[in-house]
Formats: sequence, C-alpha cells, structure tokens
Amino acid sequence: MERTFLAIKPDGVQRKLVGEIIRRFETKGFTLVGLKFMNVSRELAEAHYDVHRERPFFGSLIQFITSGPVVAMVWEGDGVIASARKLIGATNPLNSEPGTIRGDFGVNTGRNLIHGSDAPETALHEISLWFKDEELVNWAPEIKAWLYE
Ligand code: RTP
Ligand code: MG
Repeated sequence: MERTFLAIKPDGVQRKLVGEIIRRFETKGFTLVGLKFMNVSRELAEAHYDVHRERPFFGSLIQFITSGPVVAMVWEGDGVIASARKLIGATNPLNSEPGTIRGDFGVNTGRNLIHGSDAPETALHEISLWFKDEELVNWAPEIKAWLYE
C-alpha cells in the first residue's frame, strides 16, 4: 500500500494542534506506521528542502523548521499521497479551502502548519530521509474490512 511522509511543523506543535491534525488522518481512514517527536538538525532540514535551495525563502524556511520540535510521521493507505495533500490544503493558507488543515488553522505561507510529500518519488525519498526501516511499524488495522471493499 502507498505511504507518505507528513510532518507537523513547529507552528503546529506550538499551537497545540498535534492531536487535531493527527485525528484528521486517523478518522479519514489512513494508517499510522511511523511517528516521532523530534528537533530537526540543520542538515536534515536542508536535505528535506533541498529542492528549494535556490529560492529566496530557503533561509527563513530552514530557520523556521529547525526552530522547535516537529512531529514526523509516515501514513499508509490507498492514494494517501494525493489525499493527504488535499486534506492539508494549498501552500498559502489564505488560499486553502475551509475544511483543510491549512484552511482551518492558518493565515500565512511561512506558518502553514504541516508538510506532506507531493508525489510517489518524493514520498519514498522523504520517508528514507526521516525514518530508519526499523522505525516503521507494519501492522494491519482490525478496521480494514470496514474501510476497504
Ligand atoms: P510543504 O513542502 O511544506 O508540504 O509545502 P508545499 O508543498 O505546499 O509548498 P512548497 O512549494 O513545497 O514550499 C515548501 C514550504 O516553503 C515555504 N514557502 N514559503 N514565502 C514563500 O513564498 C514560500 N513559498 C513556500 C512554505 O512553508 C512551504 O510549505
Ligand atoms: Mg512541498
């Protein structure tokens, strides 16, 4: 089954939205397979956002993501990569639809609460960047027959 990497950014943690955000992926029907609460090293932050290295906001983005603890997660389910991006909402929270995480809780691009992998290749890459194999839990939720035909 498909997996994606999600991270509640330092603003989501500081604003006490960890439970609310995790709840949305749980109640949607996705399965948590990896979870850790951690400070992010500069090295990891720069590797994670390497694609944005030349962008003008790169410095402030790295500063922000390393400014406090984050909740790093791996979630599993059919279509979870694209679906999680929909649940998260547009990059600028002012453009995110109500009902999405950014649409419901944010007002600024630089404080948009959560990261989600944007494609299958990035998901694989980000999962391996943030998690060791043995940190991921393979399990079959009992509820599966009620979620999938
Ligand atoms: P993310 O990677 O964090 O899930 O966000 P995203 O795909 O929606 O947006 P992306 O284009 O990948 O940008 C990564 C993060 O950089 C910050 N950003 N700031 N000031 C700006 O114009 C700007 N643009 C992007 C945001 O924190 C964004 O989530
Ligand atoms: Mg992105």
